[in-house]
Amino acid sequence: MRLLFIGDVVGSLGRQTITDYLPRLKKKYHPQLTIVNGENAAAGRGITEKIYKKFLHDGVDVLTMGNHTWDNKGIFEFVNDAKKMIRPANFPAGTPGKGIVYVKVNDLVLAVINLQGRALMTDLDDPFKKADELVAEAQQQTPFIFVDFHAETTSEKQAMGWYLDGRVSAVVGTHTHVQTNDARILPKGTAYLTDVGMTGPYDGILGMRKGPVLEKFLTALPQRFEVVEEGRFLLSGCVIDLSKEGHAQAIKPFLINDDRPFRE
Ligand SMILES: [Fe+2]
Ligand SMILES: [Fe+2]
Repeated sequence: MRLLFIGDVVGSLGRQTITDYLPRLKKKYHPQLTIVNGENAAAGRGITEKIYKKFLHDGVDVLTMGNHTWDNKGIFEFVNDAKKMIRPANFPAGTPGKGIVYVKVNDLVLAVINLQGRALMTDLDDPFKKADELVAEAQQQTPFIFVDFHAETTSEKQAMGWYLDGRVSAVVGTHTHVQTNDARILPKGTAYLTDVGMTGPYDGILGMRKGPVLEKFLTALPQRFEVVEEGRFLLSGCVIDLSKEGHAQAIKPFLINDDRPFRE
């Protein structure tokens, strides 16, 4: 089974990049399933129902989210009906939406799990305990299990990778918006990448306009951050190959931008 995973889509430029490049990426890599993190899709803050539907129309199979899940209040209107969208599973019990989804891939099933870290982030339920619970549940149905671990620190992400090694097919990080250069297959067969990176503006700071971010660093005064809506784009993703037993055989990260142009 081959999976394509694309990191944090930021704003309209990120969405347009998905519309333009997902067909070309599918033609190049032939993934059976495409997973995209959409937590910043609506002007950097959350997602709307219209955007969710557009992603599915563009060929995304599963959307994962993160700490920005609830920024766009409209999400509460459709999150419980959005069958292909998951939010971090370790939000407190009773939170709308779900943190795991099962998707059919021909005659196989892939479980996709979304978890959020706690180091330098909101203090959610323990993502490790939640992982134990959801992985045990998923293993009843399938050996193919993909985890998007949305977390700030490299240490918490590596810890999750080692913790789940041999129990899931892949642990790939999101949230920092910068792709790390540490893709590997852990000894018991789990593909691991600390962060897959973002998709959207290439010339901002994590997708936001440079000016206000820089001003905040220079003055320590509050600023209004806004997404870069035009200009050059960046697409960050990875391709993961899994054996029949659900073990990772390869993980290949890639970037598309003006410094690393797309090759068919
Ligand atoms: Fe993000
Ligand atoms: Fe995030």
